[in-house]
Amino acid sequence: MSDTPKGDAFVTIFDDTYDQPDCRAYFRMMDALGYRNQHHAVAAFRAGLDALCRARAIPAPRILDFASSYGIVALLMRHDVTLGDVFARYRAPEFDHATSGEVIARDRDWLAGLPRHAPPLHVTGLDIMPNAVAYGRAVGLFDEGFSEDLETAAPSPALAAALGQVDMIVECGSVAQLMPNALDRLLAAAGPRKPWIMTSPIRGNERARAEEVLRAHGMVQERLPVPPFIHRRFEGADEQARAIANARAAGHETESVETTGHFHAQVLLARPEGEGGPVAGWARPLSVAPLP
Ligand SMILES: C[S@@+](CC[C@H](N)C(=O)[O-])C[C@H]1O[C@@H](n2cnc3c(N)ncnc32)[C@H](O)[C@@H]1O
Repeated sequence: MSDTPKGDAFVTIFDDTYDQPDCRAYFRMMDALGYRNQHHAVAAFRAGLDALCRARAIPAPRILDFASSYGIVALLMRHDVTLGDVFARYRAPEFDHATSGEVIARDRDWLAGLPRHAPPLHVTGLDIMPNAVAYGRAVGLFDEGFSEDLETAAPSPALAAALGQVDMIVECGSVAQLMPNALDRLLAAAGPRKPWIMTSPIRGNERARAEEVLRAHGMVQERLPVPPFIHRRFEGADEQARAIANARAAGHETESVETTGHFHAQVLLARPEGEGGPVAGWARPLSVAPLP
């Protein structure tokens, strides 16, 4: 799975799993590569959402899962289930030969029976891959879904209307930091009441340009006090060397972090200055124990 759009790649691209009619190949690929980003990032996203809902007295927040793919971020934010549970599910042999229609039907039933976290969420999925968004809609992870590329074009009227109501934008996988035009269009469509934006870029993928765009919309970005966490295993020595160089260039100390053999990520929060108070005073913890 790519963590960087093509043309700016320092990681291997796994695009063939991005646009299948169901999520199997995608989650099996993530499982095989030891992905952990979403596990850690969503804990911080939920803490941020709690602080946002308190600050604005929002009972049922509206979330945009940006670059959502099949909706793993929405799934973990909404349901009481772990990334490890999700990976284990798709290891089962019954998923080897099921049709996509069967997988979608099973997933819809499974999700409908899973306990939900409070508060109730309204989730909009947005990704350039139409099959991934359609899957998220079909299984009920997305209340609405759009397959549009805001980096290259303005939002459709329907997407613009959805963006005008969003309370929080969440994103795992680094693309938000790399798409200043998309970020600008998201914030312009939001209108005067800006959503909080929480992202979990790989160390070295954060960009000054993203911060400039955020500032131009009256947003201040900070890195949350969460220790660097595993994004996924490196595929090989070349990828590791590139990642270490990138992380160092961005000012990170990589010894005992990227040198251990994994991409590491961080959580960034952008919000209107001061809203929600200092992160140290938030009610919910930012971190969870690592998965085995
Ligand atoms: C690294 S994956 C992350 C997917 C998902 N957020 C996750 O945590 O598993 C990156 C995603 O970005 C999507 N993407 C790439 N360019 C995009 C764009 N311009 N707008 C929205 N999504 C984009 C890809 O299709 C892919 O699903």
